[in-house]
Amino acid sequence: MMRKLATAGMGVVLGLAMAQVAFAQAKPEVLVKQRQAVMTLQGKYFGPMAAMAQGKAPYNAAVVQRNAGFLDNLSRMAWDGFDASTRGVDVKTRALPAIFDNSAGFKSAASRLENETAKLVAVSRSGDEAAVKAQIGAVGKTCGGCHDDFREKN
Ligand code: HEC
Repeated sequence: MMRKLATAGMGVVLGLAMAQVAFAQAKPEVLVKQRQAVMTLQGKYFGPMAAMAQGKAPYNAAVVQRNAGFLDNLSRMAWDGFDASTRGVDVKTRALPAIFDNSAGFKSAASRLENETAKLVAVSRSGDEAAVKAQIGAVGKTCGGCHDDFREKN
């Protein structure tokens, strides 16, 4: 009986270990696709907020609150996809080698996005339209700042 239980336990442990390995070994081409998908969605939810901040679209506090919340989650999702295994992968990508050569710089650019987006979530509940617009601008700077240094120009 004990032996059976122990064997069953081993099976669970092994299953978990294999799940972790499977996660760690996601194919580089898949990782590239996933990080690009996250970036595309960041564009989707940031775009309307940027238009409002620039006065190109009417301000809508409810939309900002919703989009800021989505962006807050997305802002933490892309980074797994910039695994070293994706360096030199043979698929279309605009990721520059600097991401891997200067990983500290890339990480801090990533943190800036996360931090400014978290602030936007907080400010978006304040009802202070000018402050919200300013914070949308601050988020946008973090997108552009990273793209300037780490993304190939079109
Ligand atoms: C820390 C760096 C970094 C930050 C911050 C960042 N990006 Fe990116 N972004 C990249 C890189 C690198 C690529 C190219 C990825 C690739 O082609 O593999 C990219 C690609 C994109 C793309 C093109 C996606 C595609 O399908 O090719 C869009 C759209 C985009 N980013 C939007 C945004 C927006 C909007 C923000 C801010 C809310 C943002 N990014 C913040 C690094 C960043």
